[in-house]
Amino acid sequence: MNFSLLAAFVFWILSYFQSSSTFAPNLLFQLLKEFTFIMSDEKPKTYTLKEISEHSSNDSVWVLINNGVYDVSKFLEEHPGGPEVLMDWAGKEATEAFEDVGHSSDARELMKNYKIGELCEEDQKSKAKVNGTSSCIFMKILIPISVVLTAIVIFKAYSHFKK
Ligand code: HEM
Repeated sequence: MNFSLLAAFVFWILSYFQSSSTFAPNLLFQLLKEFTFIMSDEKPKTYTLKEISEHSSNDSVWVLINNGVYDVSKFLEEHPGGPEVLMDWAGKEATEAFEDVGHSSDARELMKNYKIGELCEEDQKSKAKVNGTSSCIFMKILIPISVVLTAIVIFKAYSHFKK
């Protein structure tokens, strides 16, 4: 029998039991899920930043959060924060906005239902490079400047009180 079919059957049975309060093998369920995912060759679908940016209309709204791609088109009206905020970030990197709101663990669990894939590795690397460069500039310029400024202030204060 095809492995994916068998895995789907096992999931179906386990999800049925998982929703029952008398049987709660959530950990076992997660482990099996991971295991079957590794065994089957189904790797997550990846998208480029350009592909994601093409989904910013009312019909199709994708957002990028922590390198995960989420199709929230059918979630717009259900979103407790309203559809407008999601539309504001349609087709864009929404990680910071999402984290700034301080979404609950329930929200993080819920978002799994809308995940359609991940940002392709190449774009992940270029994003990391950009972030790396900015933090490098911060380390190389801003820190020495603040150290010098602090030293000047301390020196001025010291000479003032010494008089
Ligand atoms: C798949 C993506 C998302 C899911 C599943 C989701 C889910 C939720 C849920 C369940 C809540 C209720 C509060 C909570 O449990 O934390 C919420 C609130 C909210 N969300 Fe989202 N959200 C998503 C993306 C976003 C994005 C990208 C933004 C952009 C800023 C956003 C902004 C907000 C705001 C402003 C609230 C209201 C917070 C409040 O009233 O305190 N959400 N969201």
